[in-house]
Amino acid sequence: MNPTELIRKKRNGGTLSKEEMEFLVRGYTEGKVPEYQMSAFLMAVYFKGMDFEETALFTDIMLHSGIVVDLSEIPGVKVDKHSTGGVGDKVSLILAPMVAACGVPVPMISGRGLGHTGGTLDKLESIPGFRTQLSLEEYKAVLKKVGTAMIGQTKEIAPADKMMYALRDVTGTVESIPLISGSIMSKKLAEGIDALVLDIKTGRGAFMDSEEKAIALAKTLIAVGEKFGKTTIGFLTDMSQPLGFAVGNWLEVVECIGCMKGAKVPDLMEVTYTLGGAMVMLGKKAPTIEAGIAMCKEAISSGRAFETFRRLVAAQGGDVSFIDHPEKYPKSEHQVEIKSKTAGFVQSIDALEIGFAGIMLGAGRMRVDEVIDMKAGILFKKKDGDAVKVGDVLTVLMTDRNSELDRAVQRLEKAIIVGAGSPMSTHLIKALIDGTGVHPLNPS
Ligand code: URA
Repeated sequence: MNPTELIRKKRNGGTLSKEEMEFLVRGYTEGKVPEYQMSAFLMAVYFKGMDFEETALFTDIMLHSGIVVDLSEIPGVKVDKHSTGGVGDKVSLILAPMVAACGVPVPMISGRGLGHTGGTLDKLESIPGFRTQLSLEEYKAVLKKVGTAMIGQTKEIAPADKMMYALRDVTGTVESIPLISGSIMSKKLAEGIDALVLDIKTGRGAFMDSEEKAIALAKTLIAVGEKFGKTTIGFLTDMSQPLGFAVGNWLEVVECIGCMKGAKVPDLMEVTYTLGGAMVMLGKKAPTIEAGIAMCKEAISSGRAFETFRRLVAAQGGDVSFIDHPEKYPKSEHQVEIKSKTAGFVQSIDALEIGFAGIMLGAGRMRVDEVIDMKAGILFKKKDGDAVKVGDVLTVLMTDRNSELDRAVQRLEKAIIVGAGSPMSTHLIKALIDGTGVHPLNPS
């Protein structure tokens, strides 16, 4: 088979057979199909798409580029969640220990930052010593001991996605339903779960910016999950402004530590509790999502979620003293406040622009091999709907990169809109989606 012919076939809108897809994906994983040909293929998929059968096949081939972990020795219904990607989306860091503290095992394989969005692995690695590259035996041992384990793809688990993810990040081929589906579901199906909760983001900071596209993605992900025999449900959640107050790896860890100790970050915790409630329900520890949410709230208020997080950090080699004393972490050389020039209310904070500004400050990657500055990022002092006076601090930028500061400040000034009149509040959790369809949700 010739890769060029297969690229042309997809470019012209054709459907690849199992053998053809295997040839390309395996060939790429084994180093026989070069990056430039895989990049061209990904771009062809971006423009021409895949039908459902082809998407499921692609996912299956990605999944079987590695092994499927057998977690049957660990008792309980194993449940994970995955987000389609957002800005300031640090939910997993609170969710995994919180749900584990409710008695549901949470095996979690996560990704790195992608495009303008952050990644759980990068956030975890901002904790000094924290190892996300565990062997399979270590992964199982941590899961058994702590109730959750949070790792990245290894060479055994969905290696095709590990390679393709990095390539998509830098070739403008992220926002594609079949590619996102193959990427997310191959990782999730490989990690040994019984059920999955998806957080499908919509809005400016999401890969699927319109609700229509996000719902189409959700339906595909759920159908793929069900095809592989995993109960899969999704929530459609808003990502038009960043989640929480912090954007940037260590800054987000600190925000999560605060939340696990009871700090009030309403939007972040609303998403975390909703997803957690669903996981606890799917894990058969609660009869309904509402009952699951109540258990999750108790896990936070009792301190059990935080204690589980500390044990997770210790079990994966992290230095717990930074969790207990976050203030001892190094600080950025430059901390620049952006103040409001007008009075009124925050009308919007453009999550996409914030994501890109974060990358300029060093909190994300522009190239595959770029090293992240873990302490860099953006701290918001005001969010959508907050009242603002002239001179109030809207946000603080943190970076060591002097050269990028002015441009980042300009970008942020444009991204935060202050105007007269309190804006209409948007619903953060818009719908529950399952195999039976889309169920719109009212705000709580
Ligand atoms: N998250 C993933 O793991 N993969 C994608 O393609 C997008 C979000």
